[in-house]
Amino acid sequence: MSSTHFGFQQVDESQKAKLVKGVFDGVAKNYDLMNDLMSGGLHRLWKAYTVQVANLRGGERVLDIAAGTGDLTRAFAKKVGPRGLVLHTDINEAMLREGRNRLLDDGLLTPSLLTDAEALPFADRSFDLVSVAFGLRNMTHKDKALAEMRRVLKDGGRLLVLEFSQVVEPLRKPYDWYSFNILPKLGQLVAGDADSYRYLAESIRMHPDAATLKQMMKDVGFGHVDVHRLTGGVVALHVGIRC
Ligand SMILES: C[S@@+](CC[C@H](N)C(=O)[O-])C[C@H]1O[C@@H](n2cnc3c(N)ncnc32)[C@H](O)[C@@H]1O
Repeated sequence: MSSTHFGFQQVDESQKAKLVKGVFDGVAKNYDLMNDLMSGGLHRLWKAYTVQVANLRGGERVLDIAAGTGDLTRAFAKKVGPRGLVLHTDINEAMLREGRNRLLDDGLLTPSLLTDAEALPFADRSFDLVSVAFGLRNMTHKDKALAEMRRVLKDGGRLLVLEFSQVVEPLRKPYDWYSFNILPKLGQLVAGDADSYRYLAESIRMHPDAATLKQMMKDVGFGHVDVHRLTGGVVALHVGIRC
C-alpha cells in the first residue's frame, strides 16, 4: 500500500481523506472567523485578486471546487449573472452546509453539491472556469484532481488554483514562528482545537512549491500556466489554460 503525508505525519493513502474530513468537520462552524483572524483579513484580498484575474463574463459556467463557505462562489455568481451558472462544491458536508446557508442568506440560489475533486461527476468540457482555493493541498492525489479539473474545462477554459506557497527568505523565520506558535494557540482559544490549526501549518509546508505545482499542471496537459506570487509568496495563484 502507498503512503502519503497528512501534515508532517506519514499515513496510508486510504486514511488521508478521512483525516482531512475530521479536520474540516471540526473547523466548519468557526471557519470564517478563524480565516479572518489567522490571515489578518488578507484572505479577502487574495480572493478579490483571484476574482479579478478570473475576468468572468455574464453567462459563463463556473465550477468552484473545495468551495467551503463559498467566498469565491458568491463573488463569481455576481459576475456571471442570471444567465450564467456557478456550482458550489465540496467533499465535506459540514463545510458545504455552512457555505450553502451563507449563499442563501445573501439571496443566491447557487447549487451546492457534495463532490470529490478526484472524481468529478461532470461531462468533459462543461465549464469556462474551474477554481480551487486553499483546497488542493488537502487532496490525496493532486495529479488526479488536476487532471479532472482539466477534463471538465472547455477548450480555452481556465483553471485558477489559489493556495499557500513558499514565502521569500527574509520572511521565512517569522512566518514559521507565527505558524507553529501562534496558529495552534489561536485555534485552541477561538475554536477549542489546536490540532487542526497545527495540521494547517504542517500541510502548507508539505505542499509543492510554485514551480513544482506549475509543472504538475503542465504534466496533466495545461498548455499554458502563469504563476502570480502574492504577499511575499505566502500564497500563489496558478492560472492554467486548457489549450
Ligand atoms: C481550507 S478550505 C477552503 C474553503 C474555501 N475554498 C476558501 O477558500 O475559503 C479547504 C476545503 O477543501 C475541501 N476538500 C478537501 N479535499 C477535497 C476533495 N478531495 N474534493 C473536494 N473538496 C475537498 C475541504 O472539505 C475544505 O472545505
